[in-house]
Amino acid sequence: MIRTLTIRRPDDWHLHLRDGAMLQGVLPESARHFARALVMPNLVPPVVTGADAAAYRDRIRAALPPGMAFDPRMTLYLTEATDPDDLAAAHASGLVTAVKLYPAGATTNSQSGVRDFDRIRPVLDRMADIGLPLCVHGEVTDPAIDIFDREAVFIDRVLDPIRRATPGLRVVMEHITTVEGVAYARSGGDDLAATITTHHLILNRNHILSGGIRPHYYCLPVAKRETHRLALRRAATSGEARFFLGTDSAPHVDALKEAACGCAGCFTATNTMQILAQVFEDESALDRLEGFTSLHGAAFYRLPPNAGTLTLTRGEPARWPERIVTGAGPVTVFDPGITVNWHVAG
Ligand code: DOR
Ligand code: ZN
Repeated sequence: MIRTLTIRRPDDWHLHLRDGAMLQGVLPESARHFARALVMPNLVPPVVTGADAAAYRDRIRAALPPGMAFDPRMTLYLTEATDPDDLAAAHASGLVTAVKLYPAGATTNSQSGVRDFDRIRPVLDRMADIGLPLCVHGEVTDPAIDIFDREAVFIDRVLDPIRRATPGLRVVMEHITTVEGVAYARSGGDDLAATITTHHLILNRNHILSGGIRPHYYCLPVAKRETHRLALRRAATSGEARFFLGTDSAPHVDALKEAACGCAGCFTATNTMQILAQVFEDESALDRLEGFTSLHGAAFYRLPPNAGTLTLTRGEPARWPERIVTGAGPVTVFDPGITVNWHVAG
């Protein structure tokens, strides 16, 4: 049995760091294990321009505790008013690694997102020209569509038409949750990839709703039925380069999760690597963990893998704090509900 595993230092290609006191509180949780992260732009107000991204990157760097290294890779929040020249300049200077598409109303702080996809045509054409990837929150917002079907319907109604109309556009399907998402990701060439979260490898919809409602398991896209979770586990552990880790670790203070109308998001920064090592061991795929967490995403974003390493060791059941204390309030750490025997060394 493998007891020690040393891999290239991992990257998190989908992370919510927030701002202010919350940023200060959660940043060390990611920086402890991850060298880089693609930082989501859904602040209030959102990170829309190159200048916004530069200022946010400075705030992240300033919040990093002394002695910790972390490279925040910035994203812009795509709106119907995004200026293609500003976006191209932010990309050319190396400031911005990707652009995020939120359908308006799909999730937390998405009100400034896109309503009419025709209005972003010129921006998408420019992104295809310059090779700037589009990260997509893939859910329709049509209230007539059942929430469990919103990803599959988005692929047919929005994503596939966009990709057909914009040849060469590099796309990441963010946090896929369905058999359909896995299949569509596989239908593309090396211009198409998909991130998978830690929590969607663990949760199905029963975990959220059976035996009591579990607000800390509520996220978007919402976890689906078991067949979908199993398809995600097969995809993540397949070794296919199109699938890589984006945790979507999304901190909300407990008061806003444990509420009559609770916020969406699972906070997994603290224990993602330990949980993933357990998942990959359970799937007899420990040799593929490094690809998923440390190689495939960097290759898609045309960056070298990290020089450093991370060592995981197998031992007694792992423990972590139930919640972390931030200046904004307590944030509950994701409870996978399984025994995790993996630890991050050091
Ligand atoms: O669960 C989620 N939380 N999904 C998202 O798409 C956004 C995120 C957040 O920002 O809280
Ligand atoms: Zn997210």
